[in-house]
Amino acid sequence: MITVVGSINMDLVVDTTIFPKQGETVLGNRFETVPGGKGANQAVAAARLGADLHMVGAVGEDGFGQELTNNLKAEGIHTQYVSTTTKAATGIANILLYQNDNRIIVVPGANGLVTSTEIDAAKEIIEQSEMVILQLEIPAKTVQYTLNLCKELGVPVLLNPAPSENFDASWMELISYITPNETECADIFSGDLEKTLEKYPNKLIVTLGSNGARYFDGKEHIFVEGFKTQAVDTTGAGDTFNGALAYAVTSGQSLKEAVRFANIAASLSVEKFGAQGGMPTLQMVESRLGGQSL
Ligand code: RIB
Repeated sequence: MITVVGSINMDLVVDTTIFPKQGETVLGNRFETVPGGKGANQAVAAARLGADLHMVGAVGEDGFGQELTNNLKAEGIHTQYVSTTTKAATGIANILLYQNDNRIIVVPGANGLVTSTEIDAAKEIIEQSEMVILQLEIPAKTVQYTLNLCKELGVPVLLNPAPSENFDASWMELISYITPNETECADIFSGDLEKTLEKYPNKLIVTLGSNGARYFDGKEHIFVEGFKTQAVDTTGAGDTFNGALAYAVTSGQSLKEAVRFANIAASLSVEKFGAQGGMPTLQMVESRLGGQSL
């Protein structure tokens, strides 16, 4: 069983071939609202692969909140620890898709009201979890509280430090895996990347987009190549990597196998529109592997 503590957003996606200059109005191609939020995305990624998944978070008492909770349920995710608040609207992400990449502004709304109360309410399932996944779209205080609780209960934590601005270096002691991309890694750890990786063997896994991911295994630097594919929408690729990594590690794969598995899942995820649209099932990952072992 895996528990995700994190954000739930409605993604408001605009696809455009013209990027407006300051003060300019342009005509875009397409607008869609699709489920997102780093927490919810990571939950859906792991659940689609077969994980027994509990989500802890908050939505507003509004149409988006209802739709997003129903979406999690439809993915087979347990939502009894997703609270509904009247004090804020459901979180949204304003996403601009431009030239095969994205720019995202998140307005946290209800995600900003996830507190120690929600974490305490879910203590029993956190205690039973083989892994807890966290990101940084909920208050840093709540992340700290969850990390302390997981430490006390002996539950391993995978922290995806995104967005990286609220990261606290003291958390490194409390987590089993941390998965920044290259930009987030440079924000969090100043200095030479190789030396930083060597400081955190088998713990710091840096994702490299379509080039895969790298980490240090205690003896050597390991590069796990990405799977090249035709990307339609890269939103949620990192979340797919994290959900799949947690699924693979808790299913008994070695770290190297798990990173390769997560790379394959992420490569499949970018082939469809929307953060969750292309997240694969286990069968889809296995068929991309084409009978090769991890
Ligand atoms: O990682 C992608 C996600 O970031 C989007 O779904 C958006 O909601 C933001 O949280």
